[in-house]
Amino acid sequence: MSQDPNKPKANTMWGGRFSSSPSALMEAINASIDFDKRLASQDIQGSLAHSNMLAQQGIIASSDRDAIHEGLQRVMAEIEGGGFAFSKALEDIHMNVESRLREIVGDPAARLHTARSRNDQVAVDVRLWVRDAHDRTDEQLTRLIKALLDKAEPHAATVMPGFTHLQSAQPVTFGHHLLAYVEMFGRDRGRIRDSRRRLNESPLGAGALAGTSFPVDRHMTAKALGFDGPTRNSLDSVSDRDSLIEFVSAASICAVHLSRLAEEIIIWMSAPFGFVRLPDRWTTGSSMMPQKRNPDAAELVRGKTGRIFGSLMALLTMMKGLPLTYSKDMQEDKEQLFDAADTIEIVLAAMTGMIQDLEPVPARMAAVAGAGFSTATDLADWLVRSLDIPFRDAHHITGRIVSEAETRGCGLEDLPLDAMQAVEPRIHAGILEVLGVENSVRSRVSFGGTAPSQVVQQIAWWRERV
Ligand code: ARG
Repeated sequence: MSQDPNKPKANTMWGGRFSSSPSALMEAINASIDFDKRLASQDIQGSLAHSNMLAQQGIIASSDRDAIHEGLQRVMAEIEGGGFAFSKALEDIHMNVESRLREIVGDPAARLHTARSRNDQVAVDVRLWVRDAHDRTDEQLTRLIKALLDKAEPHAATVMPGFTHLQSAQPVTFGHHLLAYVEMFGRDRGRIRDSRRRLNESPLGAGALAGTSFPVDRHMTAKALGFDGPTRNSLDSVSDRDSLIEFVSAASICAVHLSRLAEEIIIWMSAPFGFVRLPDRWTTGSSMMPQKRNPDAAELVRGKTGRIFGSLMALLTMMKGLPLTYSKDMQEDKEQLFDAADTIEIVLAAMTGMIQDLEPVPARMAAVAGAGFSTATDLADWLVRSLDIPFRDAHHITGRIVSEAETRGCGLEDLPLDAMQAVEPRIHAGILEVLGVENSVRSRVSFGGTAPSQVVQQIAWWRERV
């Protein structure tokens, strides 16, 4: 039977896959259980602490508390065992857990939510979750720093070209180059620790927004959950999401550092550089070009940076227009937090693995360390030191010597002494000692400089801190 083309179709306003009733649509936009089920263990921890406190304060009977505890333990076991039936109609993890608890223990379950709102409940759950994420990231950063130190140590004196503008600038050591990243990841770890200290206050007991008239003991629940104490303002407690933003912000800065290191590995691995090799387990081949070994893992570390930045932008934008206190907008925080935390976790792990397996090729690095007249500064410095020529003039003389070497198509160390003397007659054979790359790096003994002796000291300084 053909339909009457003039008859209006149902739900023409929504159409598409939302050709369903308003209540089904409301459920689809409103339910968070698909993602906030990751808060299950934190939610149950919070409820255990809360019900303990309610009983201690005489707000519920201790028999109710015991029933609630037994029930919550069973709910947790069901969730861990994969046997829990999550329901979209029950919206979120808080109501899913509570509703199952009621099925298991009956009436005592109905007393659990006394002096509590989902607003302080979700705030405490998410803080517990992000606190763990801080601790995991801290540990991973420490592991990465150790891997870099282990790789830097045997290469404290391995010479490589140092770049500015990606042009050969001055020779440096490979160990020193890796230690630059140790500094970056050390600061990342500092940011994570700093943020963890700030977030460690408990919002539980703030109620919906205004606090509660029940004689709760917020210090007790704070302590039970490992917080330093309770938050001081109930309005702020239910509407603050700084701890997530700080975590994702620190993760973003860390991702920048990981991405830069990934980029260097990609460049170093390319045939024209050939500074490092990565074993096959970190690379893939090409389906067409048999000779290819692609640094996919490093490229993905670089590529995934965008996801973390995206989460940070989403969180900042979500919060910026919200009046006090809680608004449902905030439910959007979780997917961003989870994705950023998952992403920083996998890129930190992959980078640590790559650094452990990285095989530097010192001969290749040494072969090009002197390219681009990279010891010209050493030559100029020698003129200043040995002939007392002012640096500006020494710079000029060196420029003319470099251009002479360029004309002859040779490096500075291969230029005959008389060719240099033609530019500046006072130059003598002593200059030959500073023109090699090894001499160059050995001379950079200023604090934090690239000299192997400095690199060894920097490694020792970091060893004490990891
Ligand atoms: N699922 C909610 C969220 O993640 C929990 C808080 C709901 N509060 C409320 N008043 N509706 O934000």
